Amino acid sequence: MNFELTEEQLSVQQAARDFAQNELLPGVIERDTEQKFPAEQIKKMGELGFMGMMTDPKYNGGGMDSISYVLAMEEISKIDASASVCMSVNNSLVCWGLERFGSEEQKEKYLKRLTTGELIGAFCLSEPEAGSDATSQRTIAEDKGDHYILNGTKNWITNGKSASVYIVIAQTHPEKKHKGINALIVERGMPGFMVGKKEDKMGIRGSDTHSLMFTDVKVPKANRIGEDGFGFTFAMTTLNGGRIGIAAQALGIAAGAYELALKYSKERKAFGKLLSEHQSTQFKLADMATKIDAARLLIWQAALLKDQKKDFVKAAAMAKLFASQIAQEVTTEAVQIHGGYGYVKEFHVERLMRDAKITQIYEGTTEIQKMVISRELLR
Ligand code: CAA
Repeated sequence: MNFELTEEQLSVQQAARDFAQNELLPGVIERDTEQKFPAEQIKKMGELGFMGMMTDPKYNGGGMDSISYVLAMEEISKIDASASVCMSVNNSLVCWGLERFGSEEQKEKYLKRLTTGELIGAFCLSEPEAGSDATSQRTIAEDKGDHYILNGTKNWITNGKSASVYIVIAQTHPEKKHKGINALIVERGMPGFMVGKKEDKMGIRGSDTHSLMFTDVKVPKANRIGEDGFGFTFAMTTLNGGRIGIAAQALGIAAGAYELALKYSKERKAFGKLLSEHQSTQFKLADMATKIDAARLLIWQAALLKDQKKDFVKAAAMAKLFASQIAQEVTTEAVQIHGGYGYVKEFHVERLMRDAKITQIYEGTTEIQKMVISRELLR
C-alpha cells in the first residue's frame, strides 16, 4: 500500500489550490450573500480542465484518475463549495455518465463540449414527491415512436439555470416500475422546457438551484441514454460515483474550516496567551484533524477502487456518510474556536458551516447512504 501521491497528482492538487486562492476566494462572500453563480470562474475552470477531469482526452477530457479528481474537489471546496458542486455534477454525474453509457453520437454532440466547460450539465432526478424515493418518478416520457413527449417537474436541480444539457430521468412504462424509467438528454431551448423558481438556500448560495418544468417537450429517441428502461440503473450507477465527489466536497469544506481555525488559534490571544496554547483549543484541533484524515482515507479508498474497476459502491457511500458527518462537526468547532468572529461573514467559517449541511442531503441523504451500505453488507 502506498499513500504517496504521484508528481501528476501533486501538480493537479497545487493547480486547484492556486486557482481557489487566486480566482475563487476574491468575491466568495459577495457571491454567497447575493446568491450569484460563479459563471466566470466556472468558465476558467473549464479552460483549466477541471470540468471533465476523468473523461478520455478523445472527448476533450483530462484523462485523469479519480484520486486527482478528489484532490481537486477538496481544494476547490475549501474555498467555494458553490463552485465545487457545479464541478462535481458536471464531472461525476454528467460527463462520467455520458462517457460510460452514452452513444458515440451523444458523446460527439454533448460530451466534447461539457468537458471543456463550454456547456454545463445538470442531472435531473429529484421531484417534488420523489427525493430519496427515486423509484417513484412522476415525470413521464411518453413513447411516440421516434421521439418521447416529456411532461413533469424536477426540483432542487443543481446548475438549473446555468446548464445547457440536462439529463432527465422519467417514467415511460409505469407498470414496469423502476425498470420502465428512461434517462433523456434535454437541451436548453427545447420548446416546452422552462426553468422555474430559484431556491433561496441556507448554504451553497452561489450555486443556482432551480425547479424545472417540462410541458410536452419533444425529445428525439437518439437522446435516450442506453436501452429502453435503463434510466434507473443509469441514475443509480452514476450516483454511486457521484458520491465520491460529494464526499470530497464535504472533506474540503471541513479542511477549509480547520485550516482557518488553526491559523486563527495562532494569532488570537485570550487570558494572556494564544488560543493555540490553551489545551481546550489543542484538543479541538486534534479531534478536527483526526476526523479530516479519516474521511480523506475513506475517500481515497473509494476513488482507488473505482479506478481499479473494483466494486466501490459501499466504499463510496461510507466515504460520503462519514465525510458529510465530520463536515458538520469540524465546521461547528471552527466557528467555536473563532468565537464571535466565527459568527460573522468576514471570517468565512460561518459560510463553511452552512455549506456543510447540504452534503448530508444531496446525492442521497445520510439515511440513503446507510441503506446502500447495509444492503451491501447483508447481500
Ligand atoms: N447501485 C446500483 N443499482 C442500485 C443501487 C445502487 N447503489 N441501489 C439500488 N439499485 C438498483 C437495485 O439493484 C434494483 O435493481 P434491480 O431491480 O434490477 O435489481 C433497483 O435499483 C431498485 O432497487 P430497490 O428496489 O432496492 O429500490 P428502493 O426504492 O428500495 O431503493 C434507493 C433505492 C437506493 C433508495 C434509491 O432510490 C436511491 O439511491 N435514492 C436516493 C436518490 C438520490 O441520491 N438522489 C439524489 C439526487 S441527484 C443530486 O443530488 C445531484 C445534485 O444536484 C447534487
